[in-house]
Amino acid sequence: MKPRLAICGGSPVVKTPRPHFRWPPHVPGLADALARYVEEGGPLSIPGRDGIYAKLEDRLAALHGRGYALLTSSGTMALYSAFFGLGLEPGEEVISTVYSFHATATPLLHLGVLVHFCDVEPDTGNIDASALDMLVTPRTRAVVTNHMWGHPVDVDAVAAICRRRGIAWVEDCSHAHFAQHRGRTVGGFGDVSVLSLQGNKLLTGGEGGVLLTDSREIYERATLLGHSLQRSEECVQDSRWREIRRTGFGLKFRMHPLAAVMVDYLLEPHCFDWIRSRAETLRRFSEGLAATGKVQPMARRPYVTSMGAHYGFKPRLDFPALRVTREALVTALRAEGLEVDIPGSPPFHRLPLFDPERFPISGFRKADHRGRSFPGAEAYCASILSLPTFTFPEEVPLVDAYVEAFAKVFENIEVLR
Ligand SMILES: Cc1ncc(COP(=O)(O)O)c(C=O)c1O
Repeated sequence: MKPRLAICGGSPVVKTPRPHFRWPPHVPGLADALARYVEEGGPLSIPGRDGIYAKLEDRLAALHGRGYALLTSSGTMALYSAFFGLGLEPGEEVISTVYSFHATATPLLHLGVLVHFCDVEPDTGNIDASALDMLVTPRTRAVVTNHMWGHPVDVDAVAAICRRRGIAWVEDCSHAHFAQHRGRTVGGFGDVSVLSLQGNKLLTGGEGGVLLTDSREIYERATLLGHSLQRSEECVQDSRWREIRRTGFGLKFRMHPLAAVMVDYLLEPHCFDWIRSRAETLRRFSEGLAATGKVQPMARRPYVTSMGAHYGFKPRLDFPALRVTREALVTALRAEGLEVDIPGSPPFHRLPLFDPERFPISGFRKADHRGRSFPGAEAYCASILSLPTFTFPEEVPLVDAYVEAFAKVFENIEVLR
């Protein structure tokens, strides 16, 4: 006899109380490292480029093979600094992936740049390089991409278009710390690359970000924007900026030194151990779900060497073929005790903030996306479910229980129709 679904009064498969996923995990020695820094009188405000900032920036630059790293208070501010670093002028155009976390593109609205959206691949959610070329106009200065959930974008295609059309590439790596494309680490491809180090990210300081580049011009402009006083005095060499070397452009985007201590502590070996064990645990999860015959694993192109941080676990389902709604399936799975969600971020063209006639910022004009459609993004968004990015061997029993719950619900799928 088939087991009764929990939504029909049966017993749930997963009895472990929620939440099932917490990040960052408990890290032995982290609290001591933070306490030691404070007790030893480590500075809690660092106006120059020294101490923990210099140490962490040097490590991050080396790990990404970049000339310069600049720590910031958040990934959003790192993106703002990256766009500012390019010297974008109001009215110029930047092409953004239409699907990411909103901060991949929102800083552009503060610079008066017209943001044009590029559709994404319906299976990876990454920018569709085949749609990118035709969006480039004489006013286009840059493209911004995100390596969705850890899957590198089609680096060869994006880089070739940028080179041929003479536009810059801003590479948002916030989901994909240390992911690799053909054996090379992301964060080393864009003219300027950015990582969020916010609390849910694999490598985290609670809040924080970093900008990486080989361009002295971008680095100096970004430093002037948010790192005044000693830092801009020490780092800015360009004579054009001599008079404002102390004030910079007047904003403050420094990372909290304790966040830098935390990131430095987690960087090695923890971060790389987590990447390895997350890949292994999610491979098992993915194979278990695929064995039900109704869930497709996350797409993975042949050029992906590693998904790195693997920020999200988003398997895909063909809901029309299953003849159930995503809402009905999620309700049934939650009743079985699972932590499962419908992903919350819609494609950018559906966000009210990008509406050309609403929520103006500094009176800047916005690009008009009304009438344009983004079928790749709509198809991708409609197909995915959010499940926990289980990471550790101790979580394997829970992974297996999740798979069992999916199988149970599929066995009774007619109840949901
Ligand atoms: C792809 C992406 N870009 C940028 C950000 C912004 O980072 P932060 O929250 O550190 O400002 C995030 C945060 O989740 C993100 O996922």
